[in-house]
Amino acid sequence: MRERVLSGMRPTGKLHLGNYLGALDNWVGLQADYDCFYFIANWHALTSDLSHAAEIPDNTVEMLADWLGAGLNPERSTLFVQSLVPEHAELHLLFSMIVPVSWLERVPTYKEMIEQLGLESPSYGLLGYPLLQAADILMYKPRYVPVGVDQLPHIELTREVARRFNHAFAPIFPEPDAKLTLIPKVPGTDGRKMSKSYGNAIYLSDPPEVFTPKIKTMMTDPARKRRSDPGNPALCPVFDLHKIFTPEGPREACAAGCRSAGIGCLDCKGVLLDHLLPRLGAIRERRQKFIEKPKEIIEILTEGSKKARSVARATMEEVRRAVGMDL
Ligand code: TRP
Ligand code: SF4
Repeated sequence: MRERVLSGMRPTGKLHLGNYLGALDNWVGLQADYDCFYFIANWHALTSDLSHAAEIPDNTVEMLADWLGAGLNPERSTLFVQSLVPEHAELHLLFSMIVPVSWLERVPTYKEMIEQLGLESPSYGLLGYPLLQAADILMYKPRYVPVGVDQLPHIELTREVARRFNHAFAPIFPEPDAKLTLIPKVPGTDGRKMSKSYGNAIYLSDPPEVFTPKIKTMMTDPARKRRSDPGNPALCPVFDLHKIFTPEGPREACAAGCRSAGIGCLDCKGVLLDHLLPRLGAIRERRQKFIEKPKEIIEILTEGSKKARSVARATMEEVRRAVGMDL
């Protein structure tokens, strides 16, 4: 039996290179060795910004197209939607009976959200965000949860919830470990961290005629104003992308040419594009095939959710018995 891995993403719409390198690419790799469960956390999408609720269905389809384009394979992984497995809500409710409010109030992401959004009266759902996440996870008793460092407090809370439940009722939930994804530095076109909200992102869905100019106008080492000025690759966001996509030989040639002003930035970016284009092209091509057939995407999610639900049902039978709800 392969060990199980589970992770999820909120349906924020199409994914960019930062999302791909920070999570998705890692999820794809795990398929070779683990029994993978990946889901779209659409209930979690309601915890902070209700004004975009109407976009959740389209965002779900777009995101699944990105997942499939990147190489997630529904024959190998269970791909599903949170709200199609309503058992998550039931488990969340039962967890809410055993978890002190103070545990949730001290979760750092809760405080950050309140500050970031300037919330005066944060919702019960926002406070419960990490507890719903604990239910998402423990339902499937995974060995690992692949996430970025920002999610570590949520995994720690999940482990505490498991311990507390096991102690209060019956030893049902093994404590999962985070499987940290080492996130490379992925700068956007303006040199800041790549982010949808900065408008500096390169999307997996960008065709070459969209992302080529994004690279060509991308910020470089500010000291290299003229072609004759030598530059420093360590200070250049383009070079951060080289480190991810360009093999060492041509990459080091670019670095040397930069330092000696032997090559121009456009030459350097051309080398990057030589390596970026095929990688993004392959993802986009696969993505494109699916986005033309949204019915197929919905079918994949419906089937995956059925599979996930059968696991969830089995867990909930144990849980209901343990908490005295099995009349
Ligand atoms: N909170 C996660 C994020 O913002 C999304 C998420 C919800 C999740 N439930 C999960 C991740 C369960 C891993 C496991 O990225
Ligand atoms: Fe950046 Fe390349 Fe220009 Fe050097 S030559 S500043 S590494 S884009």
